[in-house]
Amino acid sequence: MPLLGVNIDHVATLRQARRTYEPDPVWAAALAELGGADGITIHLREDRRHIQDRDLRLLRETVTVKLNLEMACADEIVDIASRVQPDQATLVPERREEVTTEGGLDVVNHRQKVAEVIARLKDAGISVSLFLDPVAPQIDAAAELGADAVELHTGQYALARKSGEKARQLQLLYEAGRRVRERGLVLHAGHGLNYQNVIPIAQMEGMHELNIGHSIVSRAVFVGLERAVREMKRLVSGPWPNNHQFVED
Ligand code: PXP
Repeated sequence: MPLLGVNIDHVATLRQARRTYEPDPVWAAALAELGGADGITIHLREDRRHIQDRDLRLLRETVTVKLNLEMACADEIVDIASRVQPDQATLVPERREEVTTEGGLDVVNHRQKVAEVIARLKDAGISVSLFLDPVAPQIDAAAELGADAVELHTGQYALARKSGEKARQLQLLYEAGRRVRERGLVLHAGHGLNYQNVIPIAQMEGMHELNIGHSIVSRAVFVGLERAVREMKRLVSGPWPNNHQFVED
Protein backbone atom coordinates (compact mmCIF):
# COMPACT_ATOMS: atom_id res chain seq x y z
CA MET A 1 0.00 0.00 0.00
CA PRO A 2 1.75 3.19 -1.15
CA LEU A 3 2.40 6.11 1.16
CA LEU A 4 1.04 9.52 0.18
CA GLY A 5 3.44 12.44 0.11
CA VAL A 6 1.56 15.72 -0.24
CA ASN A 7 3.39 18.40 -2.17
CA ILE A 8 2.47 21.81 -0.74
CA ASP A 9 4.50 24.03 -3.09
CA HIS A 10 1.28 25.41 -4.56
CA VAL A 11 0.24 26.84 -1.24
CA ALA A 12 3.48 28.81 -1.23
CA THR A 13 2.91 29.80 -4.86
CA LEU A 14 -0.36 31.47 -3.84
CA ARG A 15 1.35 33.27 -0.98
CA GLN A 16 4.20 34.47 -3.22
CA ALA A 17 1.69 35.84 -5.75
CA ARG A 18 1.14 38.64 -3.22
CA ARG A 19 4.49 38.42 -1.43
CA THR A 20 2.51 38.17 1.80
CA TYR A 21 2.30 35.74 4.70
CA GLU A 22 -0.80 33.75 3.71
CA PRO A 23 -1.61 31.03 2.97
CA ASP A 24 1.16 29.53 5.06
CA PRO A 25 2.62 26.19 3.89
CA VAL A 26 3.33 25.37 7.53
CA TRP A 27 -0.43 25.41 8.23
CA ALA A 28 -0.96 23.40 5.04
CA ALA A 29 1.43 20.71 6.24
CA ALA A 30 -0.41 20.41 9.56
CA LEU A 31 -3.78 20.06 7.79
CA ALA A 32 -2.33 17.55 5.32
CA GLU A 33 -1.12 15.48 8.24
CA LEU A 34 -4.60 15.62 9.79
CA GLY A 35 -5.98 14.36 6.47
CA GLY A 36 -3.66 11.35 6.58
CA ALA A 37 -0.58 12.45 4.64
CA ASP A 38 2.34 10.10 5.19
CA GLY A 39 4.80 12.71 4.04
CA ILE A 40 5.15 16.38 3.19
CA THR A 41 7.01 17.27 0.01
CA ILE A 42 8.43 20.68 -0.86
CA HIS A 43 10.73 21.92 -3.58
CA LEU A 44 13.22 24.60 -2.56
CA ARG A 45 13.98 26.00 -6.00
CA GLU A 46 17.08 28.04 -6.67
CA ASP A 47 14.89 30.97 -7.74
CA ARG A 48 12.73 30.61 -4.57
CA ARG A 49 9.57 31.09 -6.61
CA HIS A 50 7.39 29.35 -4.03
CA ILE A 51 8.96 27.61 -1.01
CA GLN A 52 11.27 29.90 0.98
CA ASP A 53 14.16 29.03 3.28
CA ARG A 54 11.98 29.96 6.24
CA ASP A 55 9.38 27.39 5.17
CA LEU A 56 11.94 24.61 5.04
CA ARG A 57 13.29 25.58 8.45
CA LEU A 58 9.85 25.70 10.11
CA LEU A 59 8.62 22.57 8.36
CA ARG A 60 11.68 20.69 9.56
CA GLU A 61 10.68 21.68 13.09
CA THR A 62 6.96 21.01 12.80
CA VAL A 63 6.31 18.16 10.36
CA THR A 64 5.87 14.88 12.22
CA VAL A 65 5.76 12.63 9.13
CA LYS A 66 8.45 12.20 6.48
CA LEU A 67 9.78 15.48 5.10
CA ASN A 68 10.85 15.11 1.47
CA LEU A 69 12.84 17.94 -0.11
CA GLU A 70 12.86 18.12 -3.90
CA MET A 71 16.01 19.85 -5.03
CA ALA A 72 18.39 20.45 -7.89
CA CYS A 73 22.01 19.29 -7.80
CA ALA A 74 23.07 22.85 -6.91
CA ASP A 75 25.81 23.42 -4.33
CA GLU A 76 23.85 26.10 -2.44
CA ILE A 77 20.82 23.84 -2.06
CA VAL A 78 22.94 20.82 -1.13
CA ASP A 79 24.53 22.94 1.63
CA ILE A 80 21.09 23.93 2.93
CA ALA A 81 19.77 20.36 2.80
CA SER A 82 22.82 19.02 4.62
CA ARG A 83 22.26 21.59 7.35
CA VAL A 84 18.46 21.30 7.69
CA GLN A 85 18.36 17.53 7.16
CA PRO A 86 15.04 16.59 5.60
CA ASP A 87 14.33 12.86 5.90
CA GLN A 88 14.64 12.43 2.16
CA ALA A 89 15.95 14.45 -0.78
CA THR A 90 14.52 13.92 -4.25
CA LEU A 91 16.93 15.14 -6.91
CA VAL A 92 15.19 16.83 -9.83
CA PRO A 93 16.36 18.82 -12.84
CA GLU A 94 15.57 22.51 -12.65
CA ARG A 95 15.30 25.12 -15.37
CA ARG A 96 14.34 28.67 -14.56
CA GLU A 97 11.96 29.08 -17.50
CA GLU A 98 9.92 25.96 -16.77
CA VAL A 99 6.46 26.18 -15.20
CA THR A 100 7.04 22.95 -13.28
CA THR A 101 9.62 20.16 -13.36
CA GLU A 102 9.42 19.04 -16.98
CA GLY A 103 11.48 15.88 -17.31
CA GLY A 104 13.43 13.43 -15.24
CA LEU A 105 16.99 13.94 -14.08
CA ASP A 106 19.56 12.94 -16.71
CA VAL A 107 21.77 10.77 -14.51
CA VAL A 108 23.45 9.07 -17.49
CA ASN A 109 24.95 12.32 -18.76
CA HIS A 110 25.68 13.87 -15.36
CA ARG A 111 26.98 10.85 -13.49
CA GLN A 112 29.80 12.58 -11.69
CA LYS A 113 27.77 15.52 -10.38
CA VAL A 114 24.87 13.31 -9.30
CA ALA A 115 27.25 10.86 -7.60
CA GLU A 116 28.87 13.74 -5.71
CA VAL A 117 25.51 15.11 -4.53
CA ILE A 118 24.22 11.65 -3.52
CA ALA A 119 27.38 11.09 -1.47
CA ARG A 120 27.11 14.47 0.27
CA LEU A 121 23.45 13.98 1.15
CA LYS A 122 23.95 10.44 2.37
CA ASP A 123 26.87 11.59 4.50
CA ALA A 124 24.44 14.03 6.10
CA GLY A 125 22.09 11.13 6.89
CA ILE A 126 19.52 11.99 4.21
CA SER A 127 18.01 9.25 2.09
CA VAL A 128 18.19 10.04 -1.65
CA SER A 129 15.58 9.48 -4.34
CA LEU A 130 16.13 10.38 -8.02
CA PHE A 131 13.27 11.69 -10.17
CA LEU A 132 13.64 9.80 -13.45
CA ASP A 133 11.84 9.26 -16.72
CA PRO A 134 10.79 5.61 -17.01
CA VAL A 135 13.80 4.53 -19.08
CA ALA A 136 16.13 1.65 -18.27
CA PRO A 137 19.59 3.29 -18.58
CA GLN A 138 18.62 6.06 -16.15
CA ILE A 139 17.37 3.52 -13.60
CA ASP A 140 20.53 1.43 -13.99
CA ALA A 141 22.68 4.53 -13.46
CA ALA A 142 20.69 5.44 -10.32
CA ALA A 143 21.40 1.98 -8.89
CA GLU A 144 25.09 2.17 -9.79
CA LEU A 145 25.45 5.58 -8.13
CA GLY A 146 23.97 4.37 -4.83
CA ALA A 147 20.59 6.10 -4.80
CA ASP A 148 18.10 4.70 -2.29
CA ALA A 149 14.97 5.21 -4.38
CA VAL A 150 13.72 6.22 -7.81
CA GLU A 151 10.65 8.39 -8.30
CA LEU A 152 9.23 7.58 -11.71
CA HIS A 153 8.02 10.62 -13.64
CA THR A 154 4.35 10.02 -14.36
CA GLY A 155 3.89 13.26 -16.31
CA GLN A 156 3.62 11.69 -19.78
CA TYR A 157 1.07 9.18 -18.51
CA ALA A 158 -0.89 12.01 -16.88
CA LEU A 159 -0.84 14.08 -20.06
CA ALA A 160 -1.93 11.24 -22.39
CA ARG A 161 -5.47 11.85 -23.59
CA LYS A 162 -6.18 8.92 -25.91
CA SER A 163 -6.65 5.53 -24.27
CA GLY A 164 -4.01 3.83 -26.47
CA GLU A 165 -1.39 6.39 -25.54
CA LYS A 166 -2.35 6.19 -21.87
CA ALA A 167 -2.00 2.40 -21.94
CA ARG A 168 1.40 2.72 -23.66
CA GLN A 169 2.66 5.17 -21.03
CA LEU A 170 1.34 2.94 -18.27
CA GLN A 171 3.17 -0.02 -19.79
CA LEU A 172 6.42 1.98 -19.82
CA LEU A 173 5.90 2.86 -16.16
CA TYR A 174 5.17 -0.75 -15.21
CA GLU A 175 8.30 -1.98 -17.00
CA ALA A 176 10.37 0.76 -15.36
CA GLY A 177 8.83 -0.03 -11.96
CA ARG A 178 9.86 -3.66 -12.34
CA ARG A 179 13.39 -2.58 -13.18
CA VAL A 180 13.57 -0.25 -10.18
CA ARG A 181 12.59 -3.16 -7.93
CA GLU A 182 14.97 -5.60 -9.62
CA ARG A 183 17.84 -3.16 -9.11
CA GLY A 184 17.06 -3.12 -5.38
CA LEU A 185 15.77 0.45 -5.31
CA VAL A 186 12.67 1.70 -3.53
CA LEU A 187 9.89 2.64 -5.95
CA HIS A 188 8.24 6.07 -5.89
CA ALA A 189 6.17 7.91 -8.50
CA GLY A 190 4.75 11.34 -9.04
CA HIS A 191 3.88 14.30 -11.23
CA GLY A 192 0.51 15.06 -12.73
CA LEU A 193 -1.27 12.41 -10.66
CA ASN A 194 -4.87 13.24 -9.80
CA TYR A 195 -8.10 11.74 -8.49
CA GLN A 196 -8.88 10.25 -11.90
CA ASN A 197 -5.55 8.70 -12.89
CA VAL A 198 -3.84 7.67 -9.64
CA ILE A 199 -5.24 4.17 -9.09
CA PRO A 200 -3.27 2.24 -11.76
CA ILE A 201 -0.09 3.84 -10.44
CA ALA A 202 -0.99 3.08 -6.82
CA GLN A 203 -1.61 -0.56 -7.82
CA MET A 204 1.86 -1.03 -9.27
CA GLU A 205 3.66 -3.85 -7.47
CA GLY A 206 6.09 -2.58 -4.87
CA MET A 207 4.93 1.04 -5.11
CA HIS A 208 6.15 2.65 -1.91
CA GLU A 209 5.41 6.36 -2.20
CA LEU A 210 3.40 8.71 -4.39
CA ASN A 211 4.06 12.45 -4.37
CA ILE A 212 1.05 14.49 -5.37
CA GLY A 213 0.57 18.25 -5.22
CA HIS A 214 -1.33 20.21 -7.82
CA SER A 215 -4.46 18.11 -7.89
CA ILE A 216 -4.79 17.96 -4.10
CA VAL A 217 -4.25 21.68 -3.61
CA SER A 218 -6.68 22.44 -6.47
CA ARG A 219 -9.38 20.33 -4.84
CA ALA A 220 -8.59 21.90 -1.48
CA VAL A 221 -9.76 25.28 -2.82
CA PHE A 222 -13.29 23.82 -2.91
CA VAL A 223 -13.41 21.19 -0.17
CA GLY A 224 -10.57 22.15 2.18
CA LEU A 225 -7.12 20.63 2.39
CA GLU A 226 -7.77 18.05 5.09
CA ARG A 227 -10.65 16.53 3.11
CA ALA A 228 -8.81 16.72 -0.20
CA VAL A 229 -5.90 14.79 1.33
CA ARG A 230 -8.22 12.25 2.95
CA GLU A 231 -9.94 11.58 -0.37
CA MET A 232 -6.64 11.10 -2.17
CA LYS A 233 -5.33 8.91 0.61
CA ARG A 234 -8.34 6.62 0.17
CA LEU A 235 -7.65 6.31 -3.57
CA VAL A 236 -3.98 5.62 -3.00
CA SER A 237 -4.52 3.03 -0.27
CA GLY A 238 -7.51 1.11 -1.61
CA PRO A 239 -9.55 -0.99 -1.38
CA TRP A 240 -10.11 -0.22 -5.04
CA PRO A 241 -13.39 -0.69 -6.89
CA ASN A 242 -13.40 -3.80 -9.10
CA ASN A 243 -13.53 -1.89 -12.35
CA HIS A 244 -10.22 -0.28 -11.41
CA GLN A 245 -8.29 -3.49 -10.92
CA PHE A 246 -5.16 -3.21 -13.02
CA VAL A 247 -3.27 -6.45 -13.17
CA GLU A 248 0.39 -6.43 -14.08
CA ASP A 249 1.19 -9.02 -16.75
N1 PXP B 1 7.30 14.77 -7.81
C1 PXP B 1 8.22 15.65 -8.28
C2 PXP B 1 9.64 15.21 -8.39
C3 PXP B 1 7.84 16.96 -8.64
O1 PXP B 1 8.76 17.82 -9.12
C4 PXP B 1 6.50 17.35 -8.48
C5 PXP B 1 6.09 18.75 -8.79
O2 PXP B 1 6.70 19.61 -7.89
C6 PXP B 1 5.59 16.41 -7.97
C7 PXP B 1 6.01 15.12 -7.66
C8 PXP B 1 4.15 16.73 -7.78
O3 PXP B 1 3.57 16.98 -9.03
P1 PXP B 1 2.09 17.52 -9.12
O4 PXP B 1 2.09 18.87 -8.48
O5 PXP B 1 1.83 17.56 -10.59
O6 PXP B 1 1.21 16.56 -8.37
